Amino acid sequence: MFEEKTIEAFRKLPTPFYYYDLDLLQATLKIAMEESTKHGYKLHYALKANSNPRILQTISKMGYGADCVSGNEVSRAIENGFDPKQVVFSGVGKSDQEINVALAQDILCFNCESLQELEVINGLAAGMGATADIALRINPNVHAFTHKYITTGLEENKFGINPWEFDAILERLKQLRNLELVGLHFHIGSQITDLTAFKNLCVRVNEINQWFAGQHIFPRIINLGGGLGIDYHHPDDNLVPDFKSYFNVFREFTELLPGQELHLEPGRALVAQCGSLITKVLYIKNGVNVNFAICDAGMTELIRPALYQAFHKIQNITSRSEEKIKYDVVGPICESSDCFGKSVLMPMTQRGDLVAIRSAGAYGETMASQYNLRDLVKGVYSGEI
Ligand code: LLP
Repeated sequence: MFEEKTIEAFRKLPTPFYYYDLDLLQATLKIAMEESTKHGYKLHYALKANSNPRILQTISKMGYGADCVSGNEVSRAIENGFDPKQVVFSGVGKSDQEINVALAQDILCFNCESLQELEVINGLAAGMGATADIALRINPNVHAFTHKYITTGLEENKFGINPWEFDAILERLKQLRNLELVGLHFHIGSQITDLTAFKNLCVRVNEINQWFAGQHIFPRIINLGGGLGIDYHHPDDNLVPDFKSYFNVFREFTELLPGQELHLEPGRALVAQCGSLITKVLYIKNGVNVNFAICDAGMTELIRPALYQAFHKIQNITSRSEEKIKYDVVGPICESSDCFGKSVLMPMTQRGDLVAIRSAGAYGETMASQYNLRDLVKGVYSGEI
């Protein structure tokens, strides 16, 4: 929760805004880095979770690499201190222009998702007289036990290369002279809280790695993607995710071959808990069966509840009332799905109260829109208010 002096500072600021606790961010980054270094694992932060420059500068300073999914993310990462040689570029639909941006930066590698993409990158690299290091993003058909919209590693998903395509791809790679196969890449989904999913991924990856070894191919990089979930229900009890147990799963279940490095791409787990969306209550509307607390932030600032029915803890941080009442906490956007939470028990709430929507540091600001011609939401940082 927030200290009194922080809440006093919030009262003077125009709302809504994202508040980022940079001390918590640093503490989280330090723990994750220390735990992964014990095993020699390399971490590439997934920019899609939060690409706010202040957040990126904090992360790049701690020695993280970057996982990008657009040309603009590649540029943003490098502008904010990430070493191009620690940048990977994923995504099923990289445009020629985006590939050229990444080729010009000589990034660590392209995570490639189809034969056709390999052909295109090879052609563009040849045009520049360059060689592109590539990893094959493989669809392992492993269940992530998470929301279906953020499951990516099943055959039915659009992501990755399926095992029945391996022979054709290896055959073609022999002729694609401007590509160098350096890695195998996997990512099964996001907000994964059951670590068994990662264990199942490791078992499948070992089989696939062995299959490639059988073809005398030993890629240096084994990248198992991101996906570690966080505790949206009890953020204060679990401000820092359990990175130790997470890395231990990989230590226990991956069978790396000599010379292979394990890479991971955490996004949410690094940044979610350090961010809260702070919004002001504009109106209270008492219906027959429901009380609405209508806020000045909505799905344009944080779309996760509307898009995935995601839960975020909601707290009135200024009311001192002893009386507790249930509210549907909603935004001002002209959509019925513009609701942050239903039947949220809060102290009696009035116009002007401040509400914090917690665990919003990941996939909050990055997914903001200007629907209804709203202003883009801004960030505010601890230590600066
Ligand atoms: N690597 C790849 C290839 C990915 O596709 C993703 C996320 C990550 C890494 C990072 O995953 P994380 O560690 O953050 O789970 N907007 C959704 C989440 C979409 C995740 C997409 N891919 C949400 O708000 O829950």
